[in-house]
Amino acid sequence: MGRLAEAAPFRAYCMANVSFKNIKKVYDEDVVAVEKFSLEIEDKEFIVLVGPSGCGKSTTLRMVAGLEEITEGELFIGDKLVNDVPPKDRDIAMVFQNYALYPHMTVYENMAFALKLRKVPKAQIDEKVREAAEILGITELFKRRPKALSGGQRQRVAIGRAIVREPQVFLMDEPLSNLDAKLRNQMRAELIKLRQRINTTFIYVTHDQMEAMTLGDRIVIMKDGLIQQIGTPSEVFNMPANHFVAGFIGTPQMNFLPARLEVFNGSYAVEVGGVKFTLTEQQQQKLKAKGQAAQEIILGIRPEHIATVPEGSETSIRAQVDVSEMMGSEVYLHAIAVETNIVIRMQATDYYETFKAHAGQSHYISFTFPSSLMHIFDPVSQKSLLI
Ligand SMILES: Nc1ncnc2c1ncn2[C@@H]1O[C@H](COP(=O)(O)OP(=O)(O)OP(=O)(O)O)[C@@H](O)[C@H]1O
Ligand SMILES: [Mg+2]
Repeated sequence: MGRLAEAAPFRAYCMANVSFKNIKKVYDEDVVAVEKFSLEIEDKEFIVLVGPSGCGKSTTLRMVAGLEEITEGELFIGDKLVNDVPPKDRDIAMVFQNYALYPHMTVYENMAFALKLRKVPKAQIDEKVREAAEILGITELFKRRPKALSGGQRQRVAIGRAIVREPQVFLMDEPLSNLDAKLRNQMRAELIKLRQRINTTFIYVTHDQMEAMTLGDRIVIMKDGLIQQIGTPSEVFNMPANHFVAGFIGTPQMNFLPARLEVFNGSYAVEVGGVKFTLTEQQQQKLKAKGQAAQEIILGIRPEHIATVPEGSETSIRAQVDVSEMMGSEVYLHAIAVETNIVIRMQATDYYETFKAHAGQSHYISFTFPSSLMHIFDPVSQKSLLI
């Protein structure tokens, strides 16, 4: 641990890349919580693990912390194999969802505690605690006990307590999930700022895809203990590897319609609801390279990529509008097309323009979308045919 006086504040001192090599975790001999987990996290990268409840996020994080034994595979922090290294020797700090602050200690004492245990000199502890408190805006709370703090303030103290340890790797398990929506947004913005100041590798767990998209340099999407896709927010949004990722990332969720991939004279088209969409050159090449044959497919299109058009327009599909959900500046139209429930997202101004005539009644519309924004999934393997 370097001296704070001569080092930039809160700099990690070693390369803290984290390397998962085919990690598997089995609980109670037969509960496979995580398997085939391979991931290379770069030094100072912010990685988010995201996925539905029970997919193995916390288990993965706890294996990095050393709180769960690794059943199979190898875990490296820096260049060191840590499978058998106890938690206290891993140079990591973890913030949990239910961050337990010590109730009988003040905020200051809570933050200073880990350094005190390490027998760090008092003046140095004071400097580090003050610096962390300043970053988090909690200096004026030093003398309070946890029960006299709001949820957001407690959360800040829990994060502050972890920061002062200057860990090589910062682990966070749903740290914002106890906060109300407004505070969560605010803390999320603060985490982004914090990250710029404390220059450490982060592994952050959430089940909230919005949180994952805003915080992560890269996102790891998990389901049933298996990685579904690893990529930057824009990669997983624009090029989802499979049906699950496509539906999980983005709100309202992507629409899926039953469709058919056709080949005419070596050129691909998608037929949906009796309408034929010619694919772009880039899509053609991807499919050709795979030697893709004609087959049934699941067509994916995001609600914001659909446009309503006058009835009878080229490549337009008819839909019966069920409910309009007013969201302020936008409207979500819930409709049925090709015997499937879909959502169309439109600007409120366009909505009023289009639907003036139909106040409150069920009505039909026509819509279309550009082929370039279409996703194509195999109904059996669930994988994208365009990647
Ligand atoms: N101590 C344990 N003993 C047995 N099974 C466990 C244990 N901890 C977790 N599991 C199981 O392992 C799987 C993964 O659990 P984990 O807690 O990692 O999920 P998670 O993705 O963090 O979910 P959540 O979003 O609900 O927190 C689940 O099926 C869970 O029931
Ligand atoms: Mg969890």
